[in-house]
Amino acid sequence: MSEIKNITVIGGGTMGNGIAHVFAMSGYHVDLVETSRELADKALAIIDKNLTRMVSKEKISEGEKSSALEKIRTHIDIPGAVAHADLVIEAVPEIFELKKKILGLVDRNAPLTAILATNTSSISITKLASVTSRPDKFIGMHFFNPVPVMKLVEVINGLKTSPEVTKTIMSISERLGKVPVEANDSPGFVSNRVLMPMINEAICCVYEGVATPEAVDQVMKLGMAHPMGPLRLADFIGLDVCLDILHVLYDGFKDPKYRPCPLLVKMVDAGKLGDKAGEGFFEYKN
Ligand code: CAA
Repeated sequence: MSEIKNITVIGGGTMGNGIAHVFAMSGYHVDLVETSRELADKALAIIDKNLTRMVSKEKISEGEKSSALEKIRTHIDIPGAVAHADLVIEAVPEIFELKKKILGLVDRNAPLTAILATNTSSISITKLASVTSRPDKFIGMHFFNPVPVMKLVEVINGLKTSPEVTKTIMSISERLGKVPVEANDSPGFVSNRVLMPMINEAICCVYEGVATPEAVDQVMKLGMAHPMGPLRLADFIGLDVCLDILHVLYDGFKDPKYRPCPLLVKMVDAGKLGDKAGEGFFEYKN
């Protein structure tokens, strides 16, 4: 496998801009793609803000911030952005048809040697790999929000991922200062198969009147040392995202233990999606 120097990140949302941030901080050239100039500028402004926060906490110097920013170029067209890529990471919304369209375009325009990775939180890696002509060079590279802070990268092998590609992605993740953990493709992988039933159960406690959202979160924060309670975390992730992942688990295993709590469904229907909507289990004024 040739050396990985040029990274293309498709999607500049929360995950995409975080991924671009950590690659640029580690000295990689990053091409970041958004759908419009306005969104590309917004993604870069968020990276700038998060780097400034690290400077003010004295985690990095002004010089390190500038050189990270200099490593990022933004684009609004995929073919141009992937033309010289060694590794492409797709981080667009969790809609299979959208990912299929984008991965097809990436596959047709990226060098044949490039590895294609997806940051999907639950869509099958094997299914996404099958829309490309290189399933052996396709892999899951699942980051966690906030990407600059969270140590884990869940590295997920599709059925045809080659061991050499897995090895390369594990070692790149380490170069980012992360801890890669390998898993095989299965609904929800490890992270969301374990996390989402806990969140769902916390929601059921509220639905059944066992406790208030505040009380449920206090129990898990003070009793289990979780940095955020499960309901605060659900708001942070997005209640629509949690519901989508529970559907993947429920459909994938056909096991009623993954059935989404009716309160979660109702809240998503009402547009109470968590932080991004200003309201979920808790309110977010800013
Ligand atoms: N960029 C850079 N640094 C950041 C940051 C960002 N976007 N966000 C936070 N930080 C830094 C802060 O500067 C701060 O640094 P210091 O420790 O040096 O002071 C540190 O992170 C903690 O931040 P805050 O002090 O602002 O707030 P906090 O102590 O409440 O921590 C948190 C915030 C890191 C988010 C913490 O609450 C936490 O770890 N929560 C759990 C997050 C989690 O579980 N994420 C995974 C979600 S699941 C997922 O992403 C994948 C999926 O598939 C659904």
